[in-house]
Amino acid sequence: MANVVELRHVDKVYRGAPDVQVLFDITLAFAERSFNSIVGESGSGKSTLMNIIGTLDVPTSGDVEIAGQSVASLSRDRLAELRNRTIGFVFQFHYLLPEFTALENVLMPYSIGPQGAKREVLQWADELFDFMGVSRVKNNPAGKMSGGQQQRVAIIRSLINKPRVILADEPTGNLDSVNSAATYERFRDINQRYGTTFIIVTHDRRIAEQTDRIVEIRDGRLLMDIRK
Ligand SMILES: Nc1ncnc2c1ncn2[C@@H]1O[C@H](COP(=O)(O)OP(=O)(O)O)[C@@H](O)[C@H]1O
Ligand SMILES: [Mg+2]
Repeated sequence: MANVVELRHVDKVYRGAPDVQVLFDITLAFAERSFNSIVGESGSGKSTLMNIIGTLDVPTSGDVEIAGQSVASLSRDRLAELRNRTIGFVFQFHYLLPEFTALENVLMPYSIGPQGAKREVLQWADELFDFMGVSRVKNNPAGKMSGGQQQRVAIIRSLINKPRVILADEPTGNLDSVNSAATYERFRDINQRYGTTFIIVTHDRRIAEQTDRIVEIRDGRLLMDIRK
């Protein structure tokens, strides 16, 4: 199967006094439709790696290819376009806008709210709200919803553009174990139903063990890469 993400010999150095090298010679690819986790101790470089995969940050050296495109050669606008089209992000803190409704938050990429979004987008949003079990709170202000509901809305938001890859950086770090388990079941369902590739950073071994591949980072280096 084709790779949707490819890193070749990626190094990352944060400049300062002194410079700190955080990633060392990472060569790593993720296939279309795959369901992966990244584990490693705090400070090992997981978020740095995710930011580079997500094209939110650039490597100091090495290559990044997303959906077959080498990102270094792209202009800012083309890169933003590739990112918006290809990648969805789910973070530990979901960054919903509390004053806006769940639906408005989800449609934010279309920036003009329900009136501005096309009918197909609204239908897709409805399907996702249904699928994630939060249809009833669609029109509630995000700030008035429970943590678990807000995280589901953030997941819907990450899916609204039908990205090929979801990058989730400790997405359930803020949730209790019941909501956490439910979130992973949804991720798996989405992966199977829509073929979306998942790359999930987690510190929870039990969750990582439910994915098809576990990549372990230690001190900025690829330590293990286990496929089931
Ligand atoms: N913007 C930055 N400038 C300097 N050092 C950073 C920066 N971001 C992260 N680091 C350092 O890089 C290392 C890896 O951080 P990070 O990628 O956040 O690890 P993880 O997500 O695995 O906890 C840490 O030592 C952290 O302090
Ligand atoms: Mg991190």
